Amino acid sequence: MNKAITLPATSPLLKNDFIFGVATASFQIEGAADSRLDTIWDTFCATPGKIRDGSDGKTACEHVSHWEEDLRLIRSMGVDAYRFSVSWARVIHADGSVNQQGLDFYIALLDRLNEYAIKPFVTLYHWDLPQYLEDQGGWLNRETAYKFRDYADRVSRAFGDRVHSYATLNEPFCSAYLGYEAGIHAPGHKSRAYGKQAAHHLLLAHGLAMEVLERNAPEALNGIVLNFSPCYPESDSAEDIEAANMADEYFNHWYLQPLLEQRYPDVLEKLPRSEHPPVMPGDMAIIGHKLDYIGINYYTRERYQASASELFEKLEHEQQPLTDMGWEVFPQGLTDLLLDYHQRYLLPPVYITENGAAMVDKLVDGKVDDPERLAYLQSHLQAVDDAAMQGVDVRGYFAWSLMDNFEWAEGYLKRFGIVYVDYESQQRIIKSSGYAYRDFLLQKAEQGAGKQQAGAR
Ligand code: FCB
Repeated sequence: MNKAITLPATSPLLKNDFIFGVATASFQIEGAADSRLDTIWDTFCATPGKIRDGSDGKTACEHVSHWEEDLRLIRSMGVDAYRFSVSWARVIHADGSVNQQGLDFYIALLDRLNEYAIKPFVTLYHWDLPQYLEDQGGWLNRETAYKFRDYADRVSRAFGDRVHSYATLNEPFCSAYLGYEAGIHAPGHKSRAYGKQAAHHLLLAHGLAMEVLERNAPEALNGIVLNFSPCYPESDSAEDIEAANMADEYFNHWYLQPLLEQRYPDVLEKLPRSEHPPVMPGDMAIIGHKLDYIGINYYTRERYQASASELFEKLEHEQQPLTDMGWEVFPQGLTDLLLDYHQRYLLPPVYITENGAAMVDKLVDGKVDDPERLAYLQSHLQAVDDAAMQGVDVRGYFAWSLMDNFEWAEGYLKRFGIVYVDYESQQRIIKSSGYAYRDFLLQKAEQGAGKQQAGAR
């Protein structure tokens, strides 16, 4: 198996201004739960049976005490950017006032990143809603959207011009659908009506925060991060094609179309009134606030067939290879989805804000050799390149994740890092995929510097 990451010499991804980064999220790495308020994920973790290994995020990767070492590690990998999220519960007290100690933690982090010339991509909400807000209804309560706007306001004023890019939300589909409809993520509600209600309030929160960011951080790239699993029909039959289209609208376009066209997709009309989102006059215009970019997270595709009782039926992943999550490795899905959305919408510039794979990693003699993850990264970068060559305006790519971390309902059982974390010793060990990513980036930088010199002559 190949040990290096390579792209064709003419690839748009090799241009100097194409950004490569690594990504993490607050609850998954920070630990230091004592210095912040409880979040819905703390409550969820404390509920028996919710997390596969019974673990929680109290310690995680102890990033709050290891952040300086972690940033040195990131720097050593030669990345252009670091995407991380701010924990709302660490920076705002329950009475709405600022927790200065929490804010200072992020300000120090931002200052160090800027000192290292690593562009900070800040996500304001990566699922860790403060529990006191959930106690007031969480994302079912419209008021939470306004609370989010206030939080975004305080944070973006405090961060000043330190931030290269803001994302309001990470994957509202997961917060709304997995958290309020399917019940497999915090806060664990199971109701179709709740799913749409939460989604609408999340989208509203996004739009309100965009207004604030435009004011407080006009130089930053302000946008949102969505996750997509493109939907493929199981057969060529008209019924299966229709089922896959409806699934695509239900899971993917439900989040994208309001942002870009200020309306929910047509599948809305197929849902009973009780499941329609609680749209108030003016909401869709707020939600449709102009985006500087859209972040796209991609892991796998899904296959659908027609169902006698539901709009569609999802099929199990069965085609090899599968990752340790049981997700099909399907790089073509990323190219297809980028081209499809590019044709269908007036897309803003795109950043691939997450892409990566959980694999069964073994630490042997102090080393982790992970050729399958390396192959995954290589094939997906090639897929991004294919889309870029066909005209999609892709400007960056972030590997998920910098390091192994708390993988939500899977606890610590799944490892997504290009850096291995030994949770006993909290030692970080770069995996062979991490070294390949580093070598690729160092070589790209060298060639870029070479090109610049040649241009100067
Ligand atoms: C995404 C999440 C991220 C991580 C990856 C594997 O849905 O944004 O936090 O868990 O999946």
